[in-house]
Amino acid sequence: MNLDNVAVPIRQLDMEDMPLLMELEAAAWAAPLQASEATIRRRLALGHTMFGAIDGNVLAGTICFAETSQDPLVRADFPADFDAYASLPRSEPVYALYAYNLCVRPSHRGSNTAVRLLKEMERHGRRLGARWLIGDGRCSSYAGSSGDEYDHVKADPRFRATIDLWNQTGIRPPLEEIIRDPLLRMHYRVYECEFLYVMPDFFPQDATSGGFRVISAKDLKK
Ligand SMILES: CC(C)(COP(=O)(O)OP(=O)(O)OC[C@H]1O[C@@H](n2cnc3c(N)ncnc32)[C@H](O)[C@@H]1OP(=O)(O)O)[C@@H](O)C(=O)NCCC(=O)NCCS
Repeated sequence: MNLDNVAVPIRQLDMEDMPLLMELEAAAWAAPLQASEATIRRRLALGHTMFGAIDGNVLAGTICFAETSQDPLVRADFPADFDAYASLPRSEPVYALYAYNLCVRPSHRGSNTAVRLLKEMERHGRRLGARWLIGDGRCSSYAGSSGDEYDHVKADPRFRATIDLWNQTGIRPPLEEIIRDPLLRMHYRVYECEFLYVMPDFFPQDATSGGFRVISAKDLKK
């Protein structure tokens, strides 16, 4: 199948789209990972950008990001957890886009929507002259989620050991060990990104990832 033939349009979302956003949130994320309407409103009020792939009267997927003047390579300044990461106010000059909430509704998975949303963010970043695209990559193969109706990612004990060792030693593992995880592999396939940090307790409610997130970074000047 040529997936481009079935591609749905992507546009920027705003407060008016709140019912669509809330409906997607419930469809795409397990309950402990869902954001409330108040949280999404606050993120929009902070100046975050949200792109949505619109299929008729439903959202097929979204990607959200904060445009920031922060330098993601300064580890000490990097937000310590997801709440801080997804609560940064927009700031200028825009040096990095901090992305979160990449999701595709289950009925639309496998149709290239996630890749198209990532590419749309890249175009946006280039238009702004930003240097970095940053992602807080879930790593669901750490503990696996095959019993979950939302995700079907197998636990990978070798990947788990890699993450644990990275966290203990601070020494970044070889790329091929990091991209054993399907989501991190997708980020790498789309962006040829590097992986900067393993963040423990970044999203403690995300048991499939053991609370970890792996921060990815695409250098737009390369
Ligand atoms: C992760 C997600 C956006 C991928 O969208 P999708 O339409 O299922 O993706 P595709 O079918 O086009 O597959 C793209 C890649 O994602 C991987 N993938 C598929 N489902 C996945 C899942 N549940 N978790 C992690 N990775 C997944 C595939 O292995 C594939 O990678 P590969 O081709 O390099 O092997 C989607 O499964 C989803 O919304 N999951 C719930 C929310 C989430 O975990 N978001 C990630 C936040 S960092």
